[in-house]
Amino acid sequence: MTANLTPVEKAALLSGENIWQSRAFPHAGIRSLFLADGPHGVRKQTGSGDHLGIAASQPATCFPTAATVANSWDTRLAQEVGEALGAEAASQEVDVLLGPGLNIKRSPLCGRNFEYFSEDPYLAGHLAAAYVRGIQSQGVAASPKHFAANSQELRRMASDSVVDERTLREIYLTAFEILVREASPRVIMSAYNKINGEYAHENAHLLTEILRDEWGFDGAVITDWGGGNNPVAAIKAGGGLEMPSPGLASVPAIMDALASGELSEADLDARVDELVRLVEWVDGGKARPVDVDAHHELARRVAQESAVLLRNEGDILPLAPGTRVAVIGDFAHTPRYQGAGSSLVNATKVVSGLEALRASDLDVVSYAQGFERDGSANDALALAAVDAAIGADVVLLYLGLDEVAESEGKDRSHLALHPAHVELLSKLRHVTDKIVVVLSAGSVVEMPWLEQTAAVLHGYLGGQAGAQGMVDLLTGAANPSGRLAETYPLSLATSPTAGAFPSPVGSAEYREGLFVGYRYFATAGVDVRFPLGFGLGYTTFDFDDLSVTASGASFSVKNTGEREGAEVAQLYVRRLTDGVIRPAIELKGFTKVHLAAGESARVTLAFDEYTFRHFDTDADAWVVEEGDYEIIVATSSSHHRLTGTHHVEGVAARTPDPALAAYATADVMAVSDEQFAALLGRPLAAAQSADLGINDPLRAMHTASSPLARFAAKVLRSLIDRSERKGKPDLNLYFLYNMPFRAIGKMTNGMVSPEMVDQIVRIVNGHFFRGTGALVGAFFRNLSTSRRLRRELEAAAAAAAAK
Ligand code: BGC
Repeated sequence: MTANLTPVEKAALLSGENIWQSRAFPHAGIRSLFLADGPHGVRKQTGSGDHLGIAASQPATCFPTAATVANSWDTRLAQEVGEALGAEAASQEVDVLLGPGLNIKRSPLCGRNFEYFSEDPYLAGHLAAAYVRGIQSQGVAASPKHFAANSQELRRMASDSVVDERTLREIYLTAFEILVREASPRVIMSAYNKINGEYAHENAHLLTEILRDEWGFDGAVITDWGGGNNPVAAIKAGGGLEMPSPGLASVPAIMDALASGELSEADLDARVDELVRLVEWVDGGKARPVDVDAHHELARRVAQESAVLLRNEGDILPLAPGTRVAVIGDFAHTPRYQGAGSSLVNATKVVSGLEALRASDLDVVSYAQGFERDGSANDALALAAVDAAIGADVVLLYLGLDEVAESEGKDRSHLALHPAHVELLSKLRHVTDKIVVVLSAGSVVEMPWLEQTAAVLHGYLGGQAGAQGMVDLLTGAANPSGRLAETYPLSLATSPTAGAFPSPVGSAEYREGLFVGYRYFATAGVDVRFPLGFGLGYTTFDFDDLSVTASGASFSVKNTGEREGAEVAQLYVRRLTDGVIRPAIELKGFTKVHLAAGESARVTLAFDEYTFRHFDTDADAWVVEEGDYEIIVATSSSHHRLTGTHHVEGVAARTPDPALAAYATADVMAVSDEQFAALLGRPLAAAQSADLGINDPLRAMHTASSPLARFAAKVLRSLIDRSERKGKPDLNLYFLYNMPFRAIGKMTNGMVSPEMVDQIVRIVNGHFFRGTGALVGAFFRNLSTSRRLRRELEAAAAAAAAK
């Protein structure tokens, strides 16, 4: 199939028409596609558009974010969320939904962790696949993102993820592999960053060799918004549609490359065909109505099944009807239920904790704000809260991270709650020890204060009905069954990338290799606050009678308590025989088992192609090493309930490479340059030149030769600081600060050509007069080129119409 388009039209088709739409060529039967965020609710903007969640969008159900749903460990539930997202997208005539995000949580500090599933690729891949199946069942294409190794927000468009091939495959690509093989997404969004020196969107190893040739992906790869760089390199490597609106700025480069033979028409056709197939596949143009109330109830159920009970001393929870509760904390009144950025949904309605509690059978005797949300001191609020607590049976203390603490565009610098909020907890302890913390945060927080609480219920970012879901759990209307999808370290300092994340310079070296999350803690023997998979409930489960065969592990689970409940059975594998360096244990299966009180069930977790494999870089292939493996049935990465041994046939085991000694014990904070170079299989890159280039972020102007550029960087920084002091992150400013110069040309609808960007950078590098002169010349050349291209496009359309 090759679309009936002229070469200029084909080149133009690969650039977005505007912020949310692709170009239409009606004479060739190609309509425009509407793309919209996002991962936990539809964000369709019809007025002024932006990709940072700033301007208004149409109301849609705000479901719990991916980090939250991941805690359900329930692929059926994730698929239901996907179906609802797809149905809402269809109802708003959205053709491509930009999600889910399945990047691996390399560090608990990543500002977008609230949008991602897990630190583990097996869990993330299966949940993402379920979302995609759900979304696409509604005739809407899913665009899982950001492919790949997109782990930090600092310099997010100007960062090179330097990662060894084995780690790339086993940690950062396996989730995408599972997703592609299981759910066939029609679209994939490439990441902003480079991987080992090449932009993800221009990375033939990633987009052609792995994604298409190995995994069989046959959809379209689109850029992240403003993430395009060299369109010719992208097309050759397998990268298609550039979003949002580079105008026709990429067309001349594509036409020149076709003329010179640098780009083949076959490669261009391949990218065009992928897009045309997508246009044909989507079931667009039918605005089917959705039941918003039913979706609100679904959001509530998902929140219920995803919140994690972390502590419950003396079984203080669930609270009996009529319990006199003092409700304290600003988060009870103004819930934090989603994160800032491109995923921000204009919820159809939002219920607060206070409202949900008042509607429950608990007796709300008082409410006090307790603290300033931004953590600034306010003794009067704290005093009033202590007063409010006196005389209540139980204090429900609503804590959380505020809007500035976690957001797209900005990584976190620590994992603590505001000290003033934690101080309130200490003050309340003077009047009661019956304090139940109800926590809202999209990612890991340190909990040195844990012992001061009687219970902690962690709702993550539970969406518009999250507060209701939490109250259902507090009262026992539902039994907590969420289990953490990421490890909670005792402190940031004990986590494997501490001190090295986020990288402030161009290359982000993934020195910890495979030892991400629990893989690190379990191998290095470092204690954690809560392990992966941890969570409590109001009943107990026994595990028994493990049988391991070549096809999997079977065992019995019994609900030994007095309430109906659910447990997540997790399968971890540990290699017992010597061989290649590996993490001590790896998650290879899971299922959520729902059981009535006293009921038991036989559960089987099947082995699959991912269970025993590792990526052998010498063979450039996945291999299974012959030997004995321990099969562990567990309720967290640290709570092993049943174990068995299993012998697997395979290739002869390798002896570990002595050059990688630090990795054998996961001593990853002590990895030397030589060891990291040995892991990479190549020398480390030399330091960058002092002059700035088109791919340096605007923030790099702090060190530019031009005083004007240094001044501009200072102004930008002070505007950011001012916005943070106001308690509301300015995402536009974060975006600009981390945006490379080249993106000026990718986001301005063709007004700034690549040649003009070169001249802007020349000015920044101190050549003001020569740069400005050349910039003016480039401006006029761009004007006449775009006029000529527009005329050519009009002529092609007219010629087609005349046929
Ligand atoms: C984000 C994407 C998002 C896109 C469109 C980008 O800044 O990284 O996740 O889908 O904007 O809003």
